[in-house]
Amino acid sequence: MTEDEARAELARLALEIARHDRAYYAEDAPLITDAEYDALRRRNAELEAAFPHLIRPDSPTHRIGAAPEGAFGKIRHRVPMLSLSNVFAPEEFTAFIDRARRFLGLAADHPLALVAEPKIDGLSISLTYEEGIFIRGATRGDGTEGEDVTANLRTLRTLPQKLQGRAPARIEIRGEVFMTKADFLAMNEAQEAAGGKRFANPRNAAAGSLRQLDPAITASRPLALFAYARGETSEPVAETHWQYLERLRDWGFEVNPLSEYLAGPDEAPGFQARIAAERASLAYDIDGVVYKIDDLTLERRLGFVGREPRWATAWKFPAEQATTLLRDILIQVGRTGALTPVAILEPVNVGGVLVTRATLHNEDEIARKDIRVGDAVILQRAGDVIPQILGIVPEKRPKNTKPFAPLETCPVCGSHAVRPPGEAVRRCTGGLICEAQTVERLIHVCSRPAFDIEGMGEKTVREFHERGWLASPADIFHLPAREPEIAALEGWGALSAQNLVRAIEARRRIPFARFLYALGIRRIGATNAKLLARHYETFDNWRAQMLAATEIGSDARLTLGSIVGIGEAIATELTDFFGEPRNLAALDALAAELTIEPETAQAAADSPLAGKIVVFTGTLETMTRPEARARAEALGARVTDSVSKKTDLVIVGADAGSKARRAAELGVRTVTETEWRELAGM
Ligand code: IVH
Repeated sequence: MTEDEARAELARLALEIARHDRAYYAEDAPLITDAEYDALRRRNAELEAAFPHLIRPDSPTHRIGAAPEGAFGKIRHRVPMLSLSNVFAPEEFTAFIDRARRFLGLAADHPLALVAEPKIDGLSISLTYEEGIFIRGATRGDGTEGEDVTANLRTLRTLPQKLQGRAPARIEIRGEVFMTKADFLAMNEAQEAAGGKRFANPRNAAAGSLRQLDPAITASRPLALFAYARGETSEPVAETHWQYLERLRDWGFEVNPLSEYLAGPDEAPGFQARIAAERASLAYDIDGVVYKIDDLTLERRLGFVGREPRWATAWKFPAEQATTLLRDILIQVGRTGALTPVAILEPVNVGGVLVTRATLHNEDEIARKDIRVGDAVILQRAGDVIPQILGIVPEKRPKNTKPFAPLETCPVCGSHAVRPPGEAVRRCTGGLICEAQTVERLIHVCSRPAFDIEGMGEKTVREFHERGWLASPADIFHLPAREPEIAALEGWGALSAQNLVRAIEARRRIPFARFLYALGIRRIGATNAKLLARHYETFDNWRAQMLAATEIGSDARLTLGSIVGIGEAIATELTDFFGEPRNLAALDALAAELTIEPETAQAAADSPLAGKIVVFTGTLETMTRPEARARAEALGARVTDSVSKKTDLVIVGADAGSKARRAAELGVRTVTETEWRELAGM
């Protein structure tokens, strides 16, 4: 799957999952089965695992459903609760370890002690203790803010109300609440006998039981808890993770007894195999093993990339497979015109999840596997997740099947569908005249991570577009003038129309990064939008610079290509976008409706690096380039590759060459590595 396809698919999944969350939690009227819902979430998780840099700010992974608004108080996590990267094979695990070693500048054979813990699929929680007393507990929520489930957690028998022995003034302990398989089955039977709702799997059962409004119900549910991680602590409590697990036990927590200390990564494959062999006989469901770097000093240095730690990864078990019938191949048209073939399947259960569709990625993939409508196909959910079609069963092929013929024209607008040489994806050339693209783009503009207009969901956008009210993004802001017409629509009424108008008016102010993301330019996802916004700061500046950058070889073009993380392909997308007059017109029409707030440096204003443009050159002795860059960015700096008049600071390592000279010529401030460490508070 290409990045573009993954991005489009993640956007679609975010919308779809949010829609089902609303249907389930807010409207109490689920539109699909739990299994189908799980399949969506898992597919999203799998894509995010494969493309971690594409994780959306509104990723469903970072929302655990949602209780009815206001049912529980909110608790802000002082240290965000993040997720884990995944690996599926020994090579991927080795690559993870090598990355960590490289980041730390350790030799390729440096022994890195690890702790291995079975990964239970439950729900993670955060527990705060003050002076040893349990005072507060929260779900992960969206990772930043969770729900206050203190009263419910107090009912867990395995949760210490008071820590035994010496405890720090304040400590936050994290772990997993789960249900054993036997408890889950028994509870479901009891529920059913009492005319209640059956849960789809132990994970849902644990989550549903913890998020009860009445703690007495939680108390009646067989919930278990293993502790395994740290949040904020008022004082250091251990030097290694293994020591920390020991302290957890001393304080009275249950720690998974299968956890093990491994002297080095070489021991991981053996551990993985032993746990895999035991998996079926364990009392609870696990989907892999979490490997954590034991040394907590290294852990701190490694830090995070995006929402995942560099110091831990989850090695997932191999996928489960099933065979089913391929009924049809549909072609979906995405926001950027990409035509994606989708397999319509005879519904089949793969490892507990009902699968009805699977992506076929692109026509080469179909040709390579010679997949035809009518074939029996072998499906797999990788890492218990994404449905993929591995191949067909040749013996089962019926007579008269035909090879899949790629469409020459767009199924929606009839424009030519072309495949540029060297690209895997066929695209509709209809651009702004292709209704599919127009609508997908408008849906994107209104979506949660973009303009986030409550009430402008997929269905409404389609309907307004069909009525001719929405042709381009600026039209969204002309909708308030149609309030009476909207109120008169079936299913609307004065109140809903008024709410919609309010929601639209509230979005006339928008942060620059969001605005950039909302434009839906190819390859400009949330991360790149943020990078661009930080670099150019204001919309007007960006617009002027992009117009200038359409000239090949211009300063503006060179600057654009040298922003760290942007690169050639993205720069070209931007200049292509600005090279099309209709895009510029649509952009200006939209901007004219808005106040676009400049991007301000995120880091604490007192950081000496906030908002500074810095360049590293030469070899650093005490840390690798990636570590130095991550540190600089965490402090609000922008790191670029080339020195110009705009550069604020050049960090000069050993054997620095032309960049150090250029800095001297331009009178840009230079510092040594030691001075840099001081500036960065290291
Ligand atoms: S450590 C920074 N350890 O996996 C991440 N997580 O994908 C810290 N999980 O939300 C998480 N067993 O619900 C950790 N032994 C373990 C775990 C574990 C299960 C879950 C947890 C977390 C998810 C991350």
